[in-house]
Amino acid sequence: MKGRIFSGVQPTHGLHLGNYLGAIRNWAELQAAYDCIYCIVDLHALTTVHDPRAMHANTREVAAALLACGIDPRRSVLFVQSNVFAHAELAWILNCVTPLGWLNRMTQFKEKAGKNRENAALGLYAYPVLQAADILAYKAEYVPVGEDQKQHLELSRDIASAFNRAFAEDFFPLPAPLILDATARIMSLRDGTKKMSKSEASDMSRINLTDDAEAISLKFQKAKSDSFEGLAIDEASRPEATNLLRIYAALAERPLAEVAADHAGTQFSAFKRELADLAVAKLAPLNAEMRRLMADPAQIDAILADGAERAAAIALPVLEEVRAACGFLRPTRG
Ligand code: TYM
Repeated sequence: MKGRIFSGVQPTHGLHLGNYLGAIRNWAELQAAYDCIYCIVDLHALTTVHDPRAMHANTREVAAALLACGIDPRRSVLFVQSNVFAHAELAWILNCVTPLGWLNRMTQFKEKAGKNRENAALGLYAYPVLQAADILAYKAEYVPVGEDQKQHLELSRDIASAFNRAFAEDFFPLPAPLILDATARIMSLRDGTKKMSKSEASDMSRINLTDDAEAISLKFQKAKSDSFEGLAIDEASRPEATNLLRIYAALAERPLAEVAADHAGTQFSAFKRELADLAVAKLAPLNAEMRRLMADPAQIDAILADGAERAAAIALPVLEEVRAACGFLRPTRG
């Protein structure tokens, strides 16, 4: 084994194609070489989801999606963040070594808080500190994520260094991001300059892993196109064409340049039909497996309960060391 991996996904919604191609598909492959810990981060989702029924249902749905995408609970630890209290406690401790100036630079906070910053919740602001705690509670060395998480990962390294400087040299390893270039940023189907996201209001902007063949075909058919001849990669002036070619190449597991060359003379509408057929063929088995798993919630819950026990067995001893490094008194009865 090459080292320990930690990564997380929020149950704000079910998973979409950006999550799958940018991160989760990679998570499944990494299981062969690394010791992997994968987490459904419900405490993070609480920054935006205040509907308990949706939180509950999304958490199970995301678990089913991860299992269907090949996360194997016999090889990896799969669990729900709020089930292991070490995350919240370590986050508080890290809050105490993180300067406000570092959080002020986070672009994701600025995007999510929007213009009404005074009303944004403190949890949204502290979100990246909890993310650092997730990773550091397991002393993980590698973190497979999409490109949008790069800045948070850099902050996790800075926070680990700040703790080490303050309390114990070399205590936390500095976690490194693992980002796959080809699929690092899958964009919205309605606007090739915005990332595909769960928080985008229009469901037509993303392919959900729960979408059936009809929905997938319709979404690709309605995807934004441009008025150039044929297809080509050109981020600046043809973001939609570039995004659809990238999705095609990722699903077909072929080099992007080759796919672009093959479709240089294809009409946009014909290409969309081809892409929809490919997506339906690739996603149908995942979709069927998710449905099978969702029909047996008790089995999902048992997998998550086992995962939480195994995660706690790693994180709690680390937390004990952190408490000792901070000088917290552990009183004992004589
Ligand atoms: P989340 O839930 O937004 O996304 C989960 C993973 O999917 C990737 N991703 C994308 N990749 C390519 N194109 C897209 N359009 C796209 N949208 C999402 C994300 O980069 C991510 O890898 N903050 C994290 C969750 C988290 C975490 C952690 C991650 C909490 N604690 C510790 C790593 C380690 C997030 O919001 O992911």
